[in-house]
Amino acid sequence: MNLSKFGKKFTKTSGINELMVDLDNALNTGSEMFMLGGGAPAHIKEIDTIFHNRMVEIINDEQEYAAMVGNYDGPSGNARFIDALSKLFSKEFGFDIKPENIALTNGSQTAFFYLFNLFAGDFSNGKKKKVLFPLAPEYIGYSDVGLSADFFVANKPKIELIDEHTFKYHINFDTLKITDDISAMCVSRPTNPTGNVLTNDEIDKLSQIAAENDVPLIIDNAYGTPFPNMIYVDAAPVWNEQTIICMSLSKFGLPATRTGIIIANQEIIKAVSQLNAIISLAPGGIGPVIAMELIRSGEIIEISRDVVRPFYKKKMEKAVALIRKEFEGVNYYIHKPEGAMFLWLWFKNMPITCGELYERLKNNGVLVVPGHYFYPGLNEDWRHKDECIRISYSQDDKIVEEGIKAIGKELKKVYNRAVPM
Ligand SMILES: Cc1ncc(COP(=O)(O)O)c(C=O)c1O
Repeated sequence: MNLSKFGKKFTKTSGINELMVDLDNALNTGSEMFMLGGGAPAHIKEIDTIFHNRMVEIINDEQEYAAMVGNYDGPSGNARFIDALSKLFSKEFGFDIKPENIALTNGSQTAFFYLFNLFAGDFSNGKKKKVLFPLAPEYIGYSDVGLSADFFVANKPKIELIDEHTFKYHINFDTLKITDDISAMCVSRPTNPTGNVLTNDEIDKLSQIAAENDVPLIIDNAYGTPFPNMIYVDAAPVWNEQTIICMSLSKFGLPATRTGIIIANQEIIKAVSQLNAIISLAPGGIGPVIAMELIRSGEIIEISRDVVRPFYKKKMEKAVALIRKEFEGVNYYIHKPEGAMFLWLWFKNMPITCGELYERLKNNGVLVVPGHYFYPGLNEDWRHKDECIRISYSQDDKIVEEGIKAIGKELKKVYNRAVPM
């Protein structure tokens, strides 16, 4: 194939493609792998039942079913769903969010493709603009979405060692510079891959810097409040004309409907709708119909608070306890797990790279994600980039348990320690 520049850029090997292929093989092909990679949400019985019942209700209503699968929505998405979202967000956030401030996308992954390319890349005056990630490491899925090369800049974190086995990243505001070529900032909160939750103070400071420099602050709220609310510390929501919030129904339990939600000022929402029309005519309408009632009634907030959050928090605590037991004797740190569904493990001065560890674990039937993929925009050599892995604790307890045991066993080999038979 003789490919265009676009073709070459978007078909080369990418971390996110590798991760999604691993995920598909492990979850959908009956493989025996212990799946601790990927960002697939858990199957929570209560949530699966809610959506199953709702689906049955829709299928039994011939008219509703026909409308759901047989009509295109407008380019900004299902209008009734957007209206319900605007009421829910206004009430929950305490900000005035109108329907004109919301557009849907086919998953929030698509939202990042749109937003990053709207704000960064090649400009008609010959200048090149970039997206700044104030806190590296950041989400692997951002890495390859830029339409041109050299699209991102990232700011190295401050590392706080909390105890013998726990650490936390903080934004290093001393080195955070909004140079002329920066046209947007983006943070995931809770952060994928680390489970970090940027403090209210950090978010306030970022909002202030965004306003002073007149650049949008994009907050990726895929795991945040008010749904799915996978946050285990106090975190206040933020929204203003300078902020763009990206949300999703995926981690609440509907990844397959591909329903992303963007909240932003009206000019940006108009631009997103225009992109939707060109790229996909309209965002998918199935997620909005299935989730409509949960949004309209506000029930999604109670379910997130009373079911989703405790479910993941308990799984996180179990996984941490298991690591403490199985990694005994290994020089490891866990990033303070404050949200999302991941543990970010740091093996300081590990004798092999995280890429090699990933391969060794894969050969032993365990999938994790090597940490070096999570540094879009941070091109400098930094040993830390090769010393971390991300594991997900969203899958069944048995899988997480066996996976962590196998990782502990392999690490002991890596560190040349005796492995009991
Ligand atoms: C931080 C973050 N943002 C965005 C996404 C994209 O999710 P989706 O496209 O399913 O909404 C993910 C998926 O794992 C994620 O972890």
